[in-house]
Amino acid sequence: MTAGGKLILGIESSCDETAAAIVADGAQVLSSVVASQIELHARFGGVVPEIASRAHLEAINNVIAQALQIAQAGQEQISAVAVANQPGLIGSLLVGLMAAKTLAWAWEKPLLAVNHVHAHAYSAALDGQPPQYPAVALIASGGHTSLYRAGSPMEIELLGSTIDDAAGEAFDKVSAILGLGYPGGPAIDKAARDGNPQAIRFPRSLLKGQSLDFSFSGLKTAVLYHVCGVPGAVRQGAEKGAQRLSPREIADVAASFQAAVVDTLCIKLRRAVKATGARSVILGGGVAANSALRAAVTELGKKHRLAVHIPAMKYCVDNAAMVAGLAYHYLQAGLTAPLDLNALATVRR
Ligand code: KG4
Ligand code: ZN
Repeated sequence: MTAGGKLILGIESSCDETAAAIVADGAQVLSSVVASQIELHARFGGVVPEIASRAHLEAINNVIAQALQIAQAGQEQISAVAVANQPGLIGSLLVGLMAAKTLAWAWEKPLLAVNHVHAHAYSAALDGQPPQYPAVALIASGGHTSLYRAGSPMEIELLGSTIDDAAGEAFDKVSAILGLGYPGGPAIDKAARDGNPQAIRFPRSLLKGQSLDFSFSGLKTAVLYHVCGVPGAVRQGAEKGAQRLSPREIADVAASFQAAVVDTLCIKLRRAVKATGARSVILGGGVAANSALRAAVTELGKKHRLAVHIPAMKYCVDNAAMVAGLAYHYLQAGLTAPLDLNALATVRR
């Protein structure tokens, strides 16, 4: 199905999802194809960069072809080719970047470069009401936990970010400690449903004063010590780790850990709202799929009368629709990228 307006082909390969999408006028998603590599990385308990880039290479042509086919679009209908060229795993980013450059050159279309984390901040705008700006955007994923002041989809100013682990990374590591598997976010979310979030009071690391930065490594260590014992201290059966815990106890740890992450994220979100005066909040990133976080942010919005924009579940984790959607605004503003565009592994903005 094609629609009027400007169609953009978006390409995303920054981590372990190979994705392509066609989005009309930055809003209507005509196709969004995501090839996940979860199975390839699961036995390592995390993403192995070299395996990721090879898998992207194998998948990318098919994923793009499928996205075009589903949208019934081809060279004539596409107005521009967009790619997330930063931040991410360098070998993975390069695969998407080369595919995007090749198509832009062969089809003689403009190339558009998008920051992957800024694209997460756009995912709530897909297939729904456009967010209200200015807004505070909280992006929590496996690689990033950042707060932004968003003046518009393109005017994104970093207010704070994690100084160690990302929120999603903490979910993945705690899931490994509890023996719940990879990826950890969905596993903890599920286990936590049967647990008591007040069973264990894990620390909420708020950093000094009104800091808008995050730190999750202390919380992860607190869970590790709770489950496996403090190094040096004698505790009966501690060496068995999570194996000595009953399903009920595991559910309590999962729920208490999740509550600590959600509390921390919400406290910082509220601080950022106060600091900026924004009346609107945007959620994004894989952790935005978390049921407790979605509920808590919705509640925060009601309590403080804020407009709350939460992406549909399918646009929380990595996808290319958010890339094509945000890129539309760059195209409208004439902000195209040169064909010698590079990939950047790390960017703090
Ligand atoms: O945005 P994303 O797909 O990739 C990055 O840009 O990092 O996020 C993946 C992260 C993983 O750490 C995963 O455990 C987490 O998002 N995640 C969740 C949930 N679903 C995915 N975390 C908490 N609860 C969930 N339901
Ligand atoms: Zn992401």
